[in-house]
Amino acid sequence: MEIDNEIDPRTQRALLERVHHHTGIFMPERKWTLLQGRLRRRLQALALASYREYLAVLESRPEELGHFINLVTTNETSFFRTPRIWDYLSQLLPRWFENHRGSTLQVWSAAASTGEEAYSMAMLCEEFRALHPAFRYRILGTDIASEVLAVGAAARYHGRNIEGLRRSRPAWLEKYFEPADDGFVVSSALRANVAFRQHHLHQRLEGAPRFDITLLRNVLIYFDEAGQRRVLEQARQAMQPGGVLVIGESESLGWLESGFAFEQPLVYRRQEARHGSHA
Ligand SMILES: C[S@@+](CC[C@H](N)C(=O)[O-])C[C@H]1O[C@@H](n2cnc3c(N)ncnc32)[C@H](O)[C@@H]1O
Repeated sequence: MEIDNEIDPRTQRALLERVHHHTGIFMPERKWTLLQGRLRRRLQALALASYREYLAVLESRPEELGHFINLVTTNETSFFRTPRIWDYLSQLLPRWFENHRGSTLQVWSAAASTGEEAYSMAMLCEEFRALHPAFRYRILGTDIASEVLAVGAAARYHGRNIEGLRRSRPAWLEKYFEPADDGFVVSSALRANVAFRQHHLHQRLEGAPRFDITLLRNVLIYFDEAGQRRVLEQARQAMQPGGVLVIGESESLGWLESGFAFEQPLVYRRQEARHGSHA
């Protein structure tokens, strides 16, 4: 069916606003072409002729929301993205282990997308555990989008991201992955320590342990200032005092009163307690 690309300003504004309302992602009017392109295939799948009809579907059928969220989120990720952060984390593990004998390291890959970040962390931990068998770790990957979480849980990868890993750490591809179908599946030893679950970063993460490390990378950029504050407050509440927060390369907490103290570029520490709040 031919889709009517003429769109009335009310429908356009309403769809951009729906993105913000459901995900916290701030989409100003100049992002309309991007949103329109992403929603187009959903209109085709539903045989709808206009964006106005799609808006009506979104507002009347609760089950449409999951599709909408899967389409409007940007899920770009890779294994060991931003190499210097992984150098920092591999140096952090011995220090953490020294100070927390008998504890399990709890890591949160917040906005985990398809799981490459969570499994990168698991590889780092497995390497450390090979030297220190008493070391224990658990990694939780969360994301608002269900499709990417399903990829993380299935732990099957191929294409560009596997090629990137083959170039950067060929021995680890060999060690922690097995060939499967047209790609590779993460070994069961890694998968045993990694779990995925759906979570909206604006909300409290219920039923999770207090995290020692939170990887909150390449997601703050999508939120407006109020949204960033909200997400950081939820992250703060989910973390151990002194826990490490890692953000993305194009992000900064510089101007936010966030409850985290700067440690080095991209790395912050959760402060003990926040003035006027209870940790
Ligand atoms: C660009 S990816 C970043 C993936 C990974 N953290 C990295 O740095 O490679 C951004 C992810 O944030 C997720 N996301 C967007 N808004 C979210 C929200 N409100 N709550 C949880 N996840 C969200 C998207 O679904 C997407 O998978």
